[in-house]
Amino acid sequence: MRLSTGAEEETIHFGEILGRSLRAGDAVLLDGELGSGKTTLVRGMARGVGYRGRVSSPTFALAHVSRGKRLTLHHLDLYRIRESETGELGLDELLNDPRGAVVVEWPRAARWPKRRIEVRLTHVKNGRAIAVVDMRQRDRAQARAK
Ligand SMILES: Nc1ncnc2c1ncn2[C@@H]1O[C@H](COP(=O)(O)OP(=O)(O)OP(=O)(O)O)[C@@H](O)[C@H]1O
Ligand SMILES: [Mg+2]
Repeated sequence: MRLSTGAEEETIHFGEILGRSLRAGDAVLLDGELGSGKTTLVRGMARGVGYRGRVSSPTFALAHVSRGKRLTLHHLDLYRIRESETGELGLDELLNDPRGAVVVEWPRAARWPKRRIEVRLTHVKNGRAIAVVDMRQRDRAQARAK
C-alpha cells in the first residue's frame, strides 16, 4: 500500500490507524531518510495504542517506551548504532514483551521477527509518500496453510 500525505497531521493520522492495528509481538520497521517523518509517524502510533503522553525523538536515548492503555509501544532509534552492535541491545527482551510491540527508526540489519510491518517514507513534492508492506498477513496465511 502506498499513500501520499501533505502535512504532518496526515502522517500522525496514518500512524494512529497503524497503531490501532498492532498486537503484542509485532515489529514495525521504519525506513526513510533524515526528516522523512519517522518520529512523526510514531507519535500517531502511540496514540493508536492508547498512549496520551508526548513522544519525543529517541535519537539520543536510543529507546523510549509509551505505555498505552491497550498496548505498550517500544520506540527505538538505531541511527547512532553500528550494525555490529545491534546484538548487544537486548532487542529480544523488547520483542518478547507479552504486552508490547516494537517500532524502529533506522532498523539496520538486526534479526527482526518475520511478523513485521515494513514502512518506507520518502520526501515527495509538498509532503511525504508512505509505503507499507504488512508481512503479518503473509505470516498468518502461512500458518493457515500448515
Ligand atoms: N506528511 C508530511 N508532510 C510534510 N511534512 C511532514 C509530514 N510528515 C512529517 N513532516 C515533517 O517532517 C519533519 C521531520 O519529521 P520527523 O522528525 O518525524 O522525521 P524523522 O524521519 O524521524 O527524522 P530523523 O531521521 O532525523 O529521525 C517534521 O518537521 C515534520 O513535521
Ligand atoms: Mg526521528
